[in-house]
Amino acid sequence: MDELHETAVALVAEGKGILAADESDGTIKKRFDSISVESTEDNRRAYRELLFSADGVEDFISGVILYDETIRQSAADGTPFPQLLESKGVIPGIKVDQGAKPLANSDGETITEGLDALRARLEEFRGLGARFAKWRATYTITHDLPSEYAIWTNAHALARYAALCQEAGVVPIVEPEVLMDGSHSIERSFIVTSRVLGAVYTELFDQKVRLEGTLLKPNMILSGYDADDRASVGEVAEWTLKCFRRHVPAAVPGIVFLSGGQTDEDATAHLNAMNQRGPHPWQLSFSYGRALQAPALKAWGGKPENVEAAQQAYHRRAKLNGAARSGKYAPEMEREAVPA
Ligand code: 13P
Repeated sequence: MDELHETAVALVAEGKGILAADESDGTIKKRFDSISVESTEDNRRAYRELLFSADGVEDFISGVILYDETIRQSAADGTPFPQLLESKGVIPGIKVDQGAKPLANSDGETITEGLDALRARLEEFRGLGARFAKWRATYTITHDLPSEYAIWTNAHALARYAALCQEAGVVPIVEPEVLMDGSHSIERSFIVTSRVLGAVYTELFDQKVRLEGTLLKPNMILSGYDADDRASVGEVAEWTLKCFRRHVPAAVPGIVFLSGGQTDEDATAHLNAMNQRGPHPWQLSFSYGRALQAPALKAWGGKPENVEAAQQAYHRRAKLNGAARSGKYAPEMEREAVPA
């Protein structure tokens, strides 16, 4: 347990957060399609090497979430990715869920799969160097959804996953993501996220998960992306903090937000506004995929001659999110040249 707690605390160290680079084959194909690059195994490897070998990002990145394929890949010089990360003091992690699948007897909701043989897979991933894991459940907001059925089945699965992780000596990142697609108000986002978190912490407690050795990876409380009158940065910070103060026990070392389709600048500004309102019972950090990678992906465009420019773009985003960890980010910094 001491080791689980230490790892969880190290992942939310001051000024640092997590890079989510665990896109499944389908998701990375979508990202590559956006820059007209073919999603071959070697292109995926080259892109991940670009991120993992970027100089100096370890000042702002505490851990990286890998995908099943990626944790088995190596840099061009033959160093396996988990060892490359460890050599820079970055903790390797692994996505272990197997995706959100249609939930039986439900209309349009999902249940995240991956519990079968999870004990053996965790043992294997731990042997490959993973010290933390991730499991994502998703919930859609409509007038009637999410249902209590989807909320409780996903919470049950998240807790089963978390308990198995701790048994294997791996820190579980518990990720219930309420999707922000739709035209719902920020109040509705608050109510749904509150119900989801209530169920998740009930199941974690019932299944004896030791919260000191976990991290939470949630959505922020936002207005739906298609809502008419979207909440401001300050409102997002206030609603999100209100929700988490009510539902996340202080024993949890950190909350590492996902970016969930926000622009990279919005994701940084929201995290910053929350940290400006601290101190809080938990560290408030990031575990961003798109909001850390979008500018790097664009700068790269699949061309070896652009690797350095892409690494600088990633470094810049990591540094700005590092500043948001202590409320020291300002939008003007987006226009400043940040020396890599
Ligand atoms: P985004 O920050 O792009 O939402 O990705 C984070 C993640 O890991 C989603 O599961």
